[in-house]
Amino acid sequence: MRLRNVPDAQDRLERCANFIQSPEEYKGEWNNFFSNNNPIYLEIGSGKGNFITTLARNNPQINYIALERYPTVLIKLIRKVPEDGYKNLAVMNVDAEKLEEFFEVGEVDKLYLNFSDPWPKKRHAKRRLTSPNFLNIYKKVLGPGSSIEFKTDNREFFDYSVEEFKNQGYTLTKLTYDLYNSDMVEGNVPTEYEEKFHALGTPINKLIAIYKTS
Ligand SMILES: C[S@@+](CC[C@H](N)C(=O)[O-])C[C@H]1O[C@@H](n2cnc3c(N)ncnc32)[C@H](O)[C@@H]1O
Repeated sequence: MRLRNVPDAQDRLERCANFIQSPEEYKGEWNNFFSNNNPIYLEIGSGKGNFITTLARNNPQINYIALERYPTVLIKLIRKVPEDGYKNLAVMNVDAEKLEEFFEVGEVDKLYLNFSDPWPKKRHAKRRLTSPNFLNIYKKVLGPGSSIEFKTDNREFFDYSVEEFKNQGYTLTKLTYDLYNSDMVEGNVPTEYEEKFHALGTPINKLIAIYKTS
């Protein structure tokens, strides 16, 4: 993703009603933060935010958390949020590597990975959000039977991810190599990257994985 330097990015984020400056303060307390016991769905690498803001607007009975490490990208997400915010959305500017600092075990009911950077070079494999390191971090915040939904245009990255999910003990419950020509497209909310690749005719891959502790 190309990034422009936006000098007042942090100020702009802090003015958004849904922006959480110190998310570590809510570890284990997210239901109190949202003032309900609704499920919590987390998107990692939200980018410009079409996906998570659309879901938050359409599903008030679910709490959504958008996690993105670049403030300059997050500014585009918060522009999609109305001035008084959404009651069921929290936005955080952090790195997914630190997920355990922000969530207790079982606090996240669903995790979305949408068009994560594929990092094609082998020496960068550790940065992939479906690398063993990240798949093990996710286990520490997901509840029993909670799912991860992963979409990508990149077939090589998808094949790698399928193997890693299996290697790390996840069960794949659904999988398609062509989302738009499968029954998994029902209710699909596209991301900015997805719209671009779909318009170019690139098939979109999607899987749903569940981690069950025995
Ligand atoms: C290729 S973009 C996709 C954005 C969006 N999900 C979409 O589909 O349009 C990947 C995004 O993930 C973010 N990202 C990558 N690694 C991350 C990490 N470790 N923690 C948080 N965000 C990350 C990047 O900053 C970038 O905005």
